[in-house]
Amino acid sequence: MPSVPVDGEPAPADGALPTTSADAFGQRPFSLYVHVPYCASRCGYCDFNTYTAAELGASASQSGYAAQAIAEVRLARRVLGDLDVPVSTVFFGGGTPTLLPAQDLASMLGSIRDEFGLAADAEVTTEANPDSVTPESLDRLRAAGFTRISFGMQSVATNVLAVLERTHTPGRAIEAIGDARAAGFEHVNVDLIYATPGETRDDFARSLDAAISSGADHVSAYSLIVEEGTRLAGKVRRGDIDDVDDDVAADRYVQADEAFTAAGLDWYEVSNWARPGAECRHNLAYWRSDDWWGIGPGAHSHVAGTRWWNVRHPSAYGDRINAGLSPAQAREILTAEQQHDEQILLGIRLRDGLEVGSLSAASLCVVDTATADGLVHGDWAVSGRVTLTQKGRLLADRLAIDLLTE
Ligand SMILES: C[S@@+](CC[C@H](N)C(=O)[O-])C[C@H]1O[C@@H](n2cnc3c(N)ncnc32)[C@H](O)[C@@H]1O
Ligand code: SF4
Repeated sequence: MPSVPVDGEPAPADGALPTTSADAFGQRPFSLYVHVPYCASRCGYCDFNTYTAAELGASASQSGYAAQAIAEVRLARRVLGDLDVPVSTVFFGGGTPTLLPAQDLASMLGSIRDEFGLAADAEVTTEANPDSVTPESLDRLRAAGFTRISFGMQSVATNVLAVLERTHTPGRAIEAIGDARAAGFEHVNVDLIYATPGETRDDFARSLDAAISSGADHVSAYSLIVEEGTRLAGKVRRGDIDDVDDDVAADRYVQADEAFTAAGLDWYEVSNWARPGAECRHNLAYWRSDDWWGIGPGAHSHVAGTRWWNVRHPSAYGDRINAGLSPAQAREILTAEQQHDEQILLGIRLRDGLEVGSLSAASLCVVDTATADGLVHGDWAVSGRVTLTQKGRLLADRLAIDLLTE
């Protein structure tokens, strides 16, 4: 998900939406995101809004979390009104949702089903750390209605897992994926991280092989980002660990793309590959600017041009929810121009690309140059869509900025 913006206008205490957005709700597919802000330990590279039990102490207990999230699901129903808009996709992310008992995840999902109803073909995903599931917990999640599970595997190279400060063994992610398939999960994703300092091409080749042969039908692969304020950033600053090398990262991207394509996993977003039909519909809903409500601390939401984000700390979130208030910290009502720019930023990263008709004459000049540079396929005037080549995917962010500044 895009990161949480820092400013914005105050959000109303009852969570009410501006009339224009409230009236337009239901015109686009609707999704729910549930943030679970807990991890057993924090990986050295991660700056997500997540906390260990020791960091939170008694101020925000894991055992009380499901009830708070359910209270926000009910608030969402009151704010959005009675219109019958079944939920297309649900995504429990974190943090580590599976650190909570399966029963808690089942009751949060149950409240979404009770309040909104799930579409008959709803995609229901939970993220999981390989260490945080057992065959029994996976059975319970499947029985509760989860259809998809996403494991943080990152790498199978012991030296890489050590730099990342991952707690699981190389084999544990593979085992967990097998258990998830045995439990009947329809779709399984694995997350990989590449270009970790010290990772060789061969280390990454072994991780790619493991991901491909694991039974997963979807892979997300991201270059390691050294986030400010993390333990990893401290080590890089002190010179204990090298920084991520951009040329190595580009080389690894090509290595990944070739391995996945050869194995029948096609790219459909710059950092995501899937077997045909296994694309993550929830992520596509973000990238297509559909409507979604984000439940939980720091979660952000978008309904028909209004975007808002919740207070970030679990105890501040719990205080608001327990007082019967909306947990929204602030909001932003997007202009038509902002919505258009966002669609270019996100859409150019998709295999479907951008509709030629949505681009200004100046942006089409940028597309002309990008075609000459081999960044976009040359058939856009005929196909009506501007789509990235592999070289273009490596430079997608720069091209998106060029398209916006024109
Ligand atoms: C919420 S975690 C996935 C579930 C679970 N918490 C885990 O890590 O196993 C989301 C994913 O974000 C990715 N991620 C987090 N921080 C990152 C960073 N600094 N650079 C690259 N990828 C990162 C990791 O691949 C991670 O699997
Ligand atoms: S990568 Fe996953 S397990 Fe590690 S700290 Fe971040 S959210 Fe938690």
